[in-house]
Amino acid sequence: MDPHVTEWLNLAIRWAHMITGIAWIGASFYFNWLENHLDRRTPREGLAGDLWAIHGGGIYHLEKYKLAPPQMPEQLHWFKWEAYTTFLTGFVLLAVVYYLNAELYLVAPGSGISAGSAIAIGIGSLIAGWFIYDFLCDSGLGKKPTYLALLLFILLAAAAFALSQVFSGRAAFIHIGAIIGTIMVGNVFRIIMPAQRALVAAINSGQEPDPGLPAKGLLRSRHNNYFTLPVLFIMISNHFPSTYGNENSWLILAVLAVLSVLVRHYFNIRHNSQKFAWAIPAAAAGMIALAFISAPKPAAMTQTNRANTPENFQAIQQIISDRCTVCHSASPTNSAFASAPGGVIMDTPEQMQQLATRIHAQSVATQAMPLGNITGMTLEERERIGHWIASGASIN
Ligand code: HEC
Repeated sequence: MDPHVTEWLNLAIRWAHMITGIAWIGASFYFNWLENHLDRRTPREGLAGDLWAIHGGGIYHLEKYKLAPPQMPEQLHWFKWEAYTTFLTGFVLLAVVYYLNAELYLVAPGSGISAGSAIAIGIGSLIAGWFIYDFLCDSGLGKKPTYLALLLFILLAAAAFALSQVFSGRAAFIHIGAIIGTIMVGNVFRIIMPAQRALVAAINSGQEPDPGLPAKGLLRSRHNNYFTLPVLFIMISNHFPSTYGNENSWLILAVLAVLSVLVRHYFNIRHNSQKFAWAIPAAAAGMIALAFISAPKPAAMTQTNRANTPENFQAIQQIISDRCTVCHSASPTNSAFASAPGGVIMDTPEQMQQLATRIHAQSVATQAMPLGNITGMTLEERERIGHWIASGASIN
């Protein structure tokens, strides 16, 4: 596909994905907040509780029914299209970025996996993820939420490990996000919506609603709530090569997920109890620890010890021209790009020098670049660039 067309497709779909995602998660956070802040002390007959709030210059009074009002109101607002459109735009975005240029973005360099198989693994993981999750929730484990959560966490960490063997680091991360996102929307589509429809139908036909359905919906809704923060991190993760580019990327992702679930938990319960207040400093300490753990290690020199021989800039320039400027040029020759990706141009020595720290982050500290190692950059070349930067990135 024409790279200019792909870029605009990417732009339009990504934008729509963000907008619908914000609408979905915003509403979900809001209702979760309502649920946690209801005043349940002396509810009116039939109510679970109520609350008062001020926003946008007006005062609101909201009431929650124990199960349902005696008769249904004329207009009942539903929340589902936000979730469905987030899923649809997310899947198309995944395809435009990772499946259309699978050799660049999806396949782990050197894994020997074809683009077709990698795409099949990607889509298969989304489908399998939902069915395994749904099966586990409906099994006996569904009654033991803590064990269920633990098992889900272990399975997702295992999936992150497995995918990181066949996918590039960033593609493995985004697929874990897509697996969780698919589970979240599956919960809305297959469980929460049917439960709500059954509830409304029962009330409309004057029958006693089955309390089992909302209970099932509530478990899935809780899961969605705890899934949110890890997914949000994954959505921005491709900006952070020290996470997905780390050799133990799956472990870093697992720790970040635990920290964010802790934070979510504290915000969920803080209205009733401060006993998880330690979660916030603990999560902050965990992030600092991860920053240390993921720090680039001093390169183990594979060949001669270069420490005392300054790099000849001509040789460095040649490496960058060979390995990077097919894409990072004012006029890229790689057919996937119409303009320099990320606006990063390395045509002249001055540009190379100015970009030195970013070049280091992407191709020395991690092997995030060249994308898909399409240009076959060697370890020795990475070390030489590292050495050039460490000794001042001189271009003379
Ligand atoms: C096959 C094309 C391709 C090649 C070859 C390539 N890059 Fe990139 N590079 C990209 C793309 C695409 C992005 C935008 C990243 C994204 O989509 O998140 C990028 C982004 C970057 C960025 C910006 C990241 C940031 O936000 O700071 C840097 C720096 C970078 N590349 C360095 C390099 C270096 C150094 C090399 C050579 C060793 C290289 N790239 C080779 C495609 C390529």
